[in-house]
Amino acid sequence: MAIGIFDSGVGGLSIAQQVRTLLPHEDLIYLADSGHAPYGEKSGQYILQRCTTIIQCLIDKGATLVVIACNTATVSAISALREMFPIPIVGVEPGVKTAVKNCKSGVVGILATTQTLKSAPFQQLAQRFSSKIKVLAQACPGLVEQVEALHLTDHKTQALVAQYVQPLLNKGADHLVLGCTHYAFLAPVIKKVAGPNVSIINTAIPVALEVARRLDIEGLASASTAAGGECFFSSGEQDLAHRQFNALWGKAVKVETF
Ligand code: DGL
Repeated sequence: MAIGIFDSGVGGLSIAQQVRTLLPHEDLIYLADSGHAPYGEKSGQYILQRCTTIIQCLIDKGATLVVIACNTATVSAISALREMFPIPIVGVEPGVKTAVKNCKSGVVGILATTQTLKSAPFQQLAQRFSSKIKVLAQACPGLVEQVEALHLTDHKTQALVAQYVQPLLNKGADHLVLGCTHYAFLAPVIKKVAGPNVSIINTAIPVALEVARRLDIEGLASASTAAGGECFFSSGEQDLAHRQFNALWGKAVKVETF
């Protein structure tokens, strides 16, 4: 039994880290579809096909619960995937509710991929809060590629972040929602641009809590008291995959080809 976690690339490691912290005894299998990233500019049909292949692969490797650690894949495909596969599938969506609850200025900014922002589930989510608060959606093309390339703080990344964040600040946003799991790795740069009075909302902890809850409900939680195992797979170029996982997971790990 293992928890399978995947993303279009290495952004979902930000979710996997919280799952690991909360559930130290569970076995984890992480799959980065870096060879097909970014998903954010692709069609819903393409994303559904990739997710179907990946979830089947995770099940074949022993996953009994799957986390779609990708906002874009969640909004594009989770309903169809839940109908296709007989195991619990946990998704991730931008933390708009938390931002709206704590917002004082009346304006929240959402940073996400083009595909996430134009999807019906996101439109409905934003619509739900639009009578109380102004929800400003900002697509951020290029940021996923910067994280995949491990350019977390370079000049281009800083310039892109400023280009996307500054207009939201100018319109009064006091909360910025990270609506893409890759952006968690850019939080220091985003914070630097946004300044101390703006809160950054990341959904990794709520997702990890939901995973724990589902494992419990479904009777899938590990009974072991030993440290859980970890396996990593990537469809991307292997040298880069090793550097990505070593940098973002925080220790040297073996990455196998998917
Ligand atoms: N980490 C993915 C997300 O949360 C990035 C999608 C992409 O590859 O564009 O949306």
